[in-house]
Amino acid sequence: MSYSPSSPIMCHSPRVTVVGAGKVGSTLAQRIAEKNLADVVLLDIVEGMPRGLALDLMEARGIELHNRRIIGTTDYADTYGSDIVVITAGFPRKPGMTRDDLLLTNAKIVVEATKKAITYSPDAIYIVVTNPLDVMTYLAWQATGLARVDPEGLVARRRIMGMAGVLDSARFETFIAMELGVCPLDVKAMVLGSHGDLMVPLPRYATVNGIPITELLDVVTIERLVQRTRNGGAEIVELMQTGGAFYAPASSTCMMVESILLNQSRLLPVAAYLQGEYGLNDIFIGVPCRLGCGGIEKVVELQLTDAERDALHTSAQAVRKSIARTQEIFAAVSR
Ligand code: APR
Repeated sequence: MSYSPSSPIMCHSPRVTVVGAGKVGSTLAQRIAEKNLADVVLLDIVEGMPRGLALDLMEARGIELHNRRIIGTTDYADTYGSDIVVITAGFPRKPGMTRDDLLLTNAKIVVEATKKAITYSPDAIYIVVTNPLDVMTYLAWQATGLARVDPEGLVARRRIMGMAGVLDSARFETFIAMELGVCPLDVKAMVLGSHGDLMVPLPRYATVNGIPITELLDVVTIERLVQRTRNGGAEIVELMQTGGAFYAPASSTCMMVESILLNQSRLLPVAAYLQGEYGLNDIFIGVPCRLGCGGIEKVVELQLTDAERDALHTSAQAVRKSIARTQEIFAAVSR
């Protein structure tokens, strides 16, 4: 009996490109492949390294029981036709650095990476992970050029988003679960705003199997957990000394990828382009969104208290200031 490996039927395997094969990118590639969600193209500027990682992940396939292809490359041509492009390229924080310290260095990297990626994947959904997150997502949106072809922002708001709220909410949930000694699966929380010191955790919307945490914890304890959440990234940077968190950031990004690829319509906090929601315009910032196969299907507007709304606006002001500081770089790279 003869066997021909080529099939006359063309099948489309979902394809996710991960730009930046560092700690976050390579862990994300592993999660996506081992959850059997999509083939993965892992791209980096460092020669050889992404190919080595991809080969290593491919050699684990028989053990991890999946058949996803992982390609490592330095060439954007290999990323063609991706359904989702995740941008993790850039530098992580060092001890004592804020996410904003990374601003100008990572701005250039993200703009260049997005411009190259969209040439080969013009219809992809873009998820930005590089910090400072909300600013980098705005720059990626500018770099795609979608604002020019879509002045009303209808495409941009569906197809470009940033990952941060899922991670910040997961951290808040972890600290609540640890405080109460309950299973983290039972804890649900929502953190809005920018990914940084000005993020807006919402204790009113945090529950343990439906019970508001305001009934289970006193005000002082809740405030302590909120502060620990705000400081969640820095706490890990201080402990690790070399680089930042990557397991939970990769898991959080993978959750967004999964909701899109499997059209799960999960309601997740995502950095989304706002056009009047929450009284904010022309900015990417964390708000609850329904994520499905088209990307962001809906931005959900919660009824915030005056204090929560003020905190969200303060957060947005800081993002705007940082966006302004990056515009020269954007113009220089675009020339
Ligand atoms: N194009 C592609 N890859 C790049 C580029 C570029 N222009 N510039 C840098 N990189 C790659 C680096 O070579 C490195 O492999 O990005 C990778 C970043 O990996 P790490 O240094 O391990 O950083 P990581 O921990 O993965 O964090 C990446 O995600 O959570 C955020 O704050 C974090 O901004 C940081 C990003």
